[in-house]
Amino acid sequence: PPLESIINLYDFEMIASKILSNQAWAYYSSGSDDEISYRENHSAYNRIFFKPKVLVDVSQVDLKTEMLGSIVDVPFYATATALCKLGNPEGGEMDIARGCGQGDTKVVQMISTLASCSVDEVVNAAPSKDQIQWYQVYVNSDRNITKEMIKHVEELGVKALFVTVDAPYMGTREKDLKIKFSNSTQGAKIMKTRMDAVVNNDKEEEETADVTAGASRTLSKFIDPSLTWNDIRELKKWTKLPVVIKGVQRSEDVIKAAELGVEGVVLSNHGGRQLDYSRPPIEVLAETVPILKERNLEGKLELFIDGGVRRGTDVIKALCLGAKGVGLGRPFLYSNSCYGKDGVERAIDILKKEIEMSMKLLGVTSIKELTPELLDTSSLKIR
Ligand code: FNR
Repeated sequence: PPLESIINLYDFEMIASKILSNQAWAYYSSGSDDEISYRENHSAYNRIFFKPKVLVDVSQVDLKTEMLGSIVDVPFYATATALCKLGNPEGGEMDIARGCGQGDTKVVQMISTLASCSVDEVVNAAPSKDQIQWYQVYVNSDRNITKEMIKHVEELGVKALFVTVDAPYMGTREKDLKIKFSNSTQGAKIMKTRMDAVVNNDKEEEETADVTAGASRTLSKFIDPSLTWNDIRELKKWTKLPVVIKGVQRSEDVIKAAELGVEGVVLSNHGGRQLDYSRPPIEVLAETVPILKERNLEGKLELFIDGGVRRGTDVIKALCLGAKGVGLGRPFLYSNSCYGKDGVERAIDILKKEIEMSMKLLGVTSIKELTPELLDTSSLKIR
């Protein structure tokens, strides 16, 4: 269908389910085990209601805000997703960069360690100089590889590092497991090329990646499962960039992160792809902010959130509860896979318009006016 006929983010998913290869659809859409967290991530937003203000002049609304020291056009970002070439073999992550930067509204892109394009390619593809890109770090068992990579992305002008900590091993995504990659497929080729680059910096002649065990299994091989808080403390010394811990799932760990002195955390369960039955991040956010206040840790670090965000109202709810920025994964994978960069731009436009409209109907005109008092969270399951 023509791009103009797409009116919400679910439309991209529906089309992707029909046109993607089995491999790409299984890898992108799957959650782990029974996919309970995957579904709850979004469902939890459905338990929050608004308490709109009336008789406010809402003829103008401004979505500009600040994340990690950068002014941004909108409070959402395209979060890191591996292997964008599975769905868009030509453009991959480069098309997400283009879609995020070609329109009037510039959107931050987080680039995965497991991107199917090199980080240089993704950075160079960004059409606008004002475009902000972040780099997601999977810490390699060989720390030198990670250290060198951090140095390299700093030189490339990336603005922050997001260290993913919810995946010491990759969760069991059964759809993906069932589609064992045969070594001869295009998907397998895409993975092999990047895996050899990521695992050993292309230094060895030998091919390392055996990709026949399903995409997730293959990708997880080099991630260091022994990573601890001490490693984060160490990693902070390697860089001047803001460091954010991605994949925090309980308020106690947010407190630890604040005390350690990182610049932020992403409340996330990896889109329901890691520990099944881990809580929906929006509930963790609602619970955490009051605890941070109690301990005088409010403002010590920035809170980000991702997982199940599909509507402008979801973004607004997260901001009301104290998030600085809201990440979306699959919606950008699907829009990029179905329509390339123009699909990504369309997804941005749809989400932005939804946020603007809902803010107007809520009676607010700027991001800083979004506060918990605008929400009824009594149906959320929080302590
Ligand atoms: C991911 N995610 C992810 N996270 C990360 O830190 N590094 C990565 O390489 C990937 N790769 C990846 C691939 C695919 C196919 C998906 C769906 C997700 C997790 C991602 O950053 C984010 O946490 C979730 O995607 C958010 O949930 P939604 O928006 O997809 O529901």
